[in-house]
Amino acid sequence: QHYLSSRRAFQTSTQSSIIPSYAFAFDIDGVLLRSSNPIPGAHDALTYLQRNRIPFILLTNGGGKSETERVEELSYKLDVELNVDMFVQSHTPFAEMHEYKDKTVLVVGGDHDKCQRVATEHYDFTSVVTPGDLVAAYPDIWPFSSVFKDYYSSFAKPLPKAINPASPDSLKIDAIFVYNDPRDWGLDSTIILDLLLSSQGRLGTLSKKNGNTSLPNNGYQQDSQPPLYYSNPDLWWASSHPLSRLGQGGFRSAFNGLWKEVTGGAKLEHTIFGKPFQPTYEFAERRLRAHRKQLFGQVGLNDPLRRVYMVGDNPESDIRGANNYQSQHGSQWQSLLVKTGVYQDGTVPSCEPTVIVKDVGEAVRWAVEDAK
Ligand code: G3P
Ligand code: MG
Repeated sequence: QHYLSSRRAFQTSTQSSIIPSYAFAFDIDGVLLRSSNPIPGAHDALTYLQRNRIPFILLTNGGGKSETERVEELSYKLDVELNVDMFVQSHTPFAEMHEYKDKTVLVVGGDHDKCQRVATEHYDFTSVVTPGDLVAAYPDIWPFSSVFKDYYSSFAKPLPKAINPASPDSLKIDAIFVYNDPRDWGLDSTIILDLLLSSQGRLGTLSKKNGNTSLPNNGYQQDSQPPLYYSNPDLWWASSHPLSRLGQGGFRSAFNGLWKEVTGGAKLEHTIFGKPFQPTYEFAERRLRAHRKQLFGQVGLNDPLRRVYMVGDNPESDIRGANNYQSQHGSQWQSLLVKTGVYQDGTVPSCEPTVIVKDVGEAVRWAVEDAK
């Protein structure tokens, strides 16, 4: 009844030609879905906003497939018509890293070769290698993955070059991208470790410097190893399991421990994308503003986007990101924490949101009232 009344109340305000001065950004896992299962209220919440022409985007640390594929899947699962211009996932910004497109890069994580195809077919990287390709070509690079031989050989692709440490023409990796949650932590860690300890990213070699703490500068020489990029920092995420599951941040923490053990504490440079970081929210706001313009045609100066409501389940990514985000366009971001994902009802969130609400439906109701 409350929902209906606010819907009626709301319609009076948007039936005029006023362009709403607020919008939403929704996290996916733990807010709209638990794995593939829609969370109750998610369909109605998004449908209500579409019916009332309130712009929203989906902003997820998830990934592993192309934006097109994931949007099609989400539209089907949530029974809501979505399109890629209202969608930002963890590795979307990798598509803008043009400096590596003509180089050879390692892409880690995700199912089968899906992330490799995202990088080559959607982001125009010309030479992409996965740990699966490497272990299929050189099983002894990580002998313990022999149990997964059938899996890897079902999709592995030929390497652009052979591993031949004695040859200057040996396979060289120029950058490492962790696109999505690694499936085979042993293989993936080993390949990343080999590269970070190598001479100039040439597999099968060892730099005299990297990791050798007996050398000056703690043995760490940034220019002699490929840069390492993670697509998100999430230690936990909300799957269909009752308890939160380790995410890409869990893999990174495990790798950091390995690196410390192997190098005696050499510095490890890496860059982490995704929520809660400022560039991700800047990217999201650009996409939200472009989507709003598409909805209403030209949005003039007198139609500013004053407020964005970020609805999330993870205090460390969704809430911290929205709270810390400094918009260059003057929009204020509010953070709404739901109880249907990582955050556990009754506990003190590690980052204080604007408000804690039961679920995405209550988040929309709260925001519609707040925006009046
Ligand atoms: O891999 C998915 C996980 O990191 C969290 O995704 O949608 O809750 O940002 P999301
Ligand atoms: Mg989430």
